[in-house]
Amino acid sequence: MTINKQIERAFNKQINSELYSAYLYWSMSAALEAMNLPGFAHWMKVQAQEELSHADKYFHYLVERGGRVLLTAIDGPPTEWKDVEVILKNVLEHEQHVTALINGLMDLAIAENDHPSVMFLQWFVNEQVEEEAAAQNILGKLKIAGTSSPALYMLDKEMAQRVFAPSASE
Ligand code: FEO
Repeated sequence: MTINKQIERAFNKQINSELYSAYLYWSMSAALEAMNLPGFAHWMKVQAQEELSHADKYFHYLVERGGRVLLTAIDGPPTEWKDVEVILKNVLEHEQHVTALINGLMDLAIAENDHPSVMFLQWFVNEQVEEEAAAQNILGKLKIAGTSSPALYMLDKEMAQRVFAPSASE
C-alpha cells in the first residue's frame, strides 16, 4: 500500500532535519578544528556521517513505500561556540529536539494506523536513546577533565578513536 500523503510530507520534513543535523555537526567539527581539538573534530564528523545515513534511511523507506522524496533548502548552522563543553551541551539539546521530532512521527504513524512506518520508526526511537546517552557521556567526561589541559588532551585522543560503522545505523 502506497504511503499516505501526510506521512510522506512528515518524512520528507524529517529528511531535511537529518540533513540539518549533519550540517550542524559539520559546522561544530570546523569549530573544534579551530580550537585545536582534532579528536573532537573527528568525532563530530563521524556524527555528521551518521546523520547523512539517517536521512538516507528515510529516503530509501519513502521510495520503498511508493512515496516521493522532495529535498528542500537546509538552514545555515551556527558557526561560533565558546568552548567544547558548550558544543557538547548543544549536541545534547539538539538530539533531545530530534527525539521529540521522532516521537511526533511515531504518534502520527500510530494515529494513521501505518504499521510499517511504526516498525520503521522503532529503529530511530532506539537510536535516539543512544544519541542522547553518547552526548551525556562525553559531557560527563568533560566535567571530570575540567580546566586541566592534560586531561582534555587525553580525552581528545580518545575521541579520535571513533569509527563510522554503517551497520550500526542501518
Ligand atoms: Fe539523526 Fe542524531 O539523530
